[in-house]
Amino acid sequence: MLRVAIIGLGPIGNVHARHYKEHPDCDLVGLCDIIPERADEASKRFGAPAFYDAAQMLRDLNPDICGVCTGGHEYGGDHYAPTMQALEAGCHVLGEKPISNEIDKAEAMVRLARERGLCYGINLNHRFTKLTRIARQWVDAGRLGHLLFINMSMWIKNPRETSPWFQLKALHPHTIDVMRHFCGDIAATQCFVTSAPGRKIWSTAHFNFKFACGAVGGLTGSYDIERGHPMERCEVAGTGGRFVLEDMMHELTWHPAGTNEKTIISNAPFGDIPEKTFDDTFRNRIRCFVDQVAAGASPETIDGSGADALAAQRVIAAAITSVEEDSVVEIPVPNGAL
Ligand SMILES: NC(=O)c1ccc[n+]([C@@H]2O[C@H](COP(=O)([O-])OP(=O)(O)OC[C@H]3O[C@@H](n4cnc5c(N)ncnc54)[C@H](O)[C@@H]3O)[C@@H](O)[C@H]2O)c1
Repeated sequence: MLRVAIIGLGPIGNVHARHYKEHPDCDLVGLCDIIPERADEASKRFGAPAFYDAAQMLRDLNPDICGVCTGGHEYGGDHYAPTMQALEAGCHVLGEKPISNEIDKAEAMVRLARERGLCYGINLNHRFTKLTRIARQWVDAGRLGHLLFINMSMWIKNPRETSPWFQLKALHPHTIDVMRHFCGDIAATQCFVTSAPGRKIWSTAHFNFKFACGAVGGLTGSYDIERGHPMERCEVAGTGGRFVLEDMMHELTWHPAGTNEKTIISNAPFGDIPEKTFDDTFRNRIRCFVDQVAAGASPETIDGSGADALAAQRVIAAAITSVEEDSVVEIPVPNGAL
């Protein structure tokens, strides 16, 4: 049994807690929030003791895994301190995205996990669907031939106006991670931004990318469109053919080059469990981390790692520089290196 504690019990921390609670190999042993009512409510809901101070909880419980589900400025400003505390305490950590919008802090978190030999994952849940797995296997097996281009888009309505770059920083850790998952490191970017009438932030953006492998790509994202269904689309093409992933979990279509035939795979189960909702991506992601830790996986093999999340943040930081300077910005490759 792996003993799991969670820091940060907002809506997302509660989702993590539920999935750990339901995991047959996990024992949810502690729930911490600096807002006592949040910790107490979660304690009642999940039947684990409440704490109001992370250091205290880590000392008292010495958990194997610590979930860091804090939020903060630009939805990631509070992750650094509890992540460092949990790593110092010897826990494997699964944190929420973005790893941190401050690149030096993200680097310090990844570095400490490496120094301590601990597994450090981020909830890059959009890559944890069965269809994304199948698509990635096609890429790895060379089915697409020479990779040429990737087009990605994601759109939801998010009315928060907290900082001019909130949309880029809070939405695109996911999309950029999926693009890197299929096409590898991003070597350069150029970004353009706009907003819906009445908005004060850059709530819609388009990024051009040059990948280290030579492929090119485009990413469009928006916090201005009410989410019906779907909300996300990814198309990857090579000389051997092209696939389109609708909503990451709902439909994967393979278009082989040179024929008018296509193969459609719909809503496949992840392992033995059907995927029906976005919530399933959280379960899949948490299961994968727990399974890797339980199997004694070496930290550098963690799927959706802190280094992957750091790489995505470096791309976002470069895109912001591109807007500010109206330029194409090169990104050091490999993006996840320290
Ligand atoms: N992966 C996804 O699909 C997805 C979706 C939505 C949000 N998120 C991410 O999830 C995170 C949390 O989102 P939320 O809406 O639950 O945020 P929230 O702000 O409602 O909750 C965060 C909680 O953390 C607590 N906290 C902050 N610092 C703490 C500390 N040092 N010790 C203990 N508690 C502390 C706060 O008091 C708060 O209750 C964000 O980083 C967000 O970007 C991820």
